[in-house]
Amino acid sequence: MADASSSSVPHACPVGMLSDNFKLGNADLEALYASARNKYPVTYLPDIDFWAVTRFEDVKAILKDTERFSCAIAMDPLVPFSDEMVQCLRDGGFAGKSNLVANADAESHDRVRRHAQSGFVPKRMAELEPRIRTLVDATIDAFIDRKSVDLVAEMLYELPAQVLFMLLGIPEAEVSNVKRWADNRLLLIFGKLTKEKQLEAAHELVDYWQYCVRHVESKKASPGADLPSDMLAARNGDDSILTMMDITLTVFGLLLAGHETTSNMSANAVLALLENEGSWQQLQQNPAHIPNAVEELIRYRPSVVAWRRKTLEAVDIAGVPIPQDSRLLLFLAAANRDGKKFDDAEILDLTRKNARAHISFGFGAHFCLGAPLARLELQIILERLTRRIPDMRLQTPQDFSFIKTVQFRGPTALHVEW
Ligand code: HEM
Repeated sequence: MADASSSSVPHACPVGMLSDNFKLGNADLEALYASARNKYPVTYLPDIDFWAVTRFEDVKAILKDTERFSCAIAMDPLVPFSDEMVQCLRDGGFAGKSNLVANADAESHDRVRRHAQSGFVPKRMAELEPRIRTLVDATIDAFIDRKSVDLVAEMLYELPAQVLFMLLGIPEAEVSNVKRWADNRLLLIFGKLTKEKQLEAAHELVDYWQYCVRHVESKKASPGADLPSDMLAARNGDDSILTMMDITLTVFGLLLAGHETTSNMSANAVLALLENEGSWQQLQQNPAHIPNAVEELIRYRPSVVAWRRKTLEAVDIAGVPIPQDSRLLLFLAAANRDGKKFDDAEILDLTRKNARAHISFGFGAHFCLGAPLARLELQIILERLTRRIPDMRLQTPQDFSFIKTVQFRGPTALHVEW
């Protein structure tokens, strides 16, 4: 582990809350980002042993530079697993790191990514689009006559999971189990769970892992129009192209990567639109603005607020020396509000010209594989909600709480009325 106790470490206290950012409301969090960017753009967070980086150009340069920065720690648990927990995972045959996020072996990452990409090409998106639209409309049908709803509980949490079930070819009858297993996954890796809660979550992770193994085997026996079947066809029985393990790890990883990222992003988007007067109506009256608005919302209030890298050698970032093997938390959400990159960066501007230059999907070799799907889902959700509920507003008073992880952000409930 890197030694950060030398005198070169900048004063950490003023922005130390970055490691507990889920305790802050949106306004306080955004003020904290501004303060970090302006005064402490690179700062050490001793309680979690990460260096926080907050300026756009630094974050982008790090994401781009795979020679000096590795993403091999992307999925390491924030709170190290207990021995009991490791044993539980081992006993359950859990295989560990996915090739799609760990770049320890860049060649295997590129090989798996090339094949997994087939699930997100424009043809696949065009096939999914009407199915997603039908799903979104059916979800709205279920509550529209009630005149008020918790959008997270009754729509936004579950919808992206259902879309992934389509993509992965998970049959309807198995959906409820898969959803139960999914519940604690984010917290296990990115949260601060107690040892007892960790162990509970580990059992669910093992159940889910074993389900993925069976699911890929079943697709081998009877293929469908889905991503695992496409990858199995590309494999054609040849382990040098893809192994069964590669495909199972991809199925396992995508449900984690594509569910709550998108659930939280859609909740952040609706909340930001309703908080900024006139924005909902702007989209309702100009649906053609929606694709750009989606980019701006992803810039303005992303669901993945920070992503990780590790230094492969001693580096200097914004004048701060950082030792080899240090862990970095790149605050994408803070970088997106950097005034050097975006004019009036603190303002939500749905027609912003360079909105798409945000860094919320990462950058470079590991740029979010599911970005086309996330964009499509968000566009359809906003298009259907603004069209069908033009006078939606936030219920007041309403206190927001946020999911308890350092790297992800979204309101746990979003009560709206019309
Ligand atoms: C708004 C929703 C989403 C956000 C904000 C988001 C954000 C991110 C970020 C920040 C990364 C890391 C990029 C890097 O290291 O440079 C990433 C990687 C990834 N995302 Fe997403 N994501 C979203 C939705 C999805 C969806 C829907 C899927 C799949 C169905 C997905 C699959 C992946 C995968 C597989 C990777 C790893 C790519 C690689 O290492 O090559 N994501 N995402």
